[in-house]
Amino acid sequence: MQLEGKVAIVTGAASGIGKAIAIAMAAAGASVVVDYVGDSTPASSVVQQITTAGGKALAVQADVSNPEQVNQLIQQTVAGFGQLDILVNNAGLEYKHPFTEFPFELWQKVLAVDLTGPFLCAQAAARQMIQQQRGGRIVNISSVHEDLPMVTNAPYCAAKGGLRMLMRTIAVELAPHQITVNNIAPGAIYTPIDADVQANAAMEKQLMAEIPLGRWGKPEEVAGLAIFLASDAAAYCTGGTYFIDGGMIRQAGSL
Ligand code: BGC
Repeated sequence: MQLEGKVAIVTGAASGIGKAIAIAMAAAGASVVVDYVGDSTPASSVVQQITTAGGKALAVQADVSNPEQVNQLIQQTVAGFGQLDILVNNAGLEYKHPFTEFPFELWQKVLAVDLTGPFLCAQAAARQMIQQQRGGRIVNISSVHEDLPMVTNAPYCAAKGGLRMLMRTIAVELAPHQITVNNIAPGAIYTPIDADVQANAAMEKQLMAEIPLGRWGKPEEVAGLAIFLASDAAAYCTGGTYFIDGGMIRQAGSL
């Protein structure tokens, strides 16, 4: 198994892409910490799904934008599984409003979860990994919108663009410790973050037209890439963004 003996934290693992990654990493042999905020029921059910399948998992509540809770997340991981090898910065959210009407509180919330969160988690994880002296893997779930503008989504695009440069900078800084840092940039993956589009046939049709492969991606497809980047096979990959978007970022348009 690709991740046998490894310990992974997946933030925001109670639903969507994070849930798929947690389940797939456990199936690949990792012990997985399922980070969540709020209601514990969905996270417990992810843990149960993993343990029923014979894997190892633990649910830990931690708000990624809170430094103390992030430190506790690392401590509880080490207390539960003895070490930390892989951090997947997945927790994220978005709100859509025209730029001139964007509420300041929502700008702050998106930046806190989508950019400050990965900063805090990567910093705390890297400190632990450096202490262990066995290298490590940091995988950020970014978005095509680390590069591609999206109208009505300015804070999200700004956060993901920031995540791209955070990743590139710390990849260089952490390389001497054999800790690799990479971004996965998904396009339209069928998860609750796009519930508004899924509920509106006209919007869905418009989105599909922007995707050369003409379909939603599946969370499991993103999980496959995350496993590769977290595995020993990816030891020489660092500082890169890996798009998984059905060709969305390369869409030329014909009209
Ligand atoms: C956003 C979705 C969007 C998709 C493709 C994702 O990062 O969260 O709202 O549909 O990118 O544009």
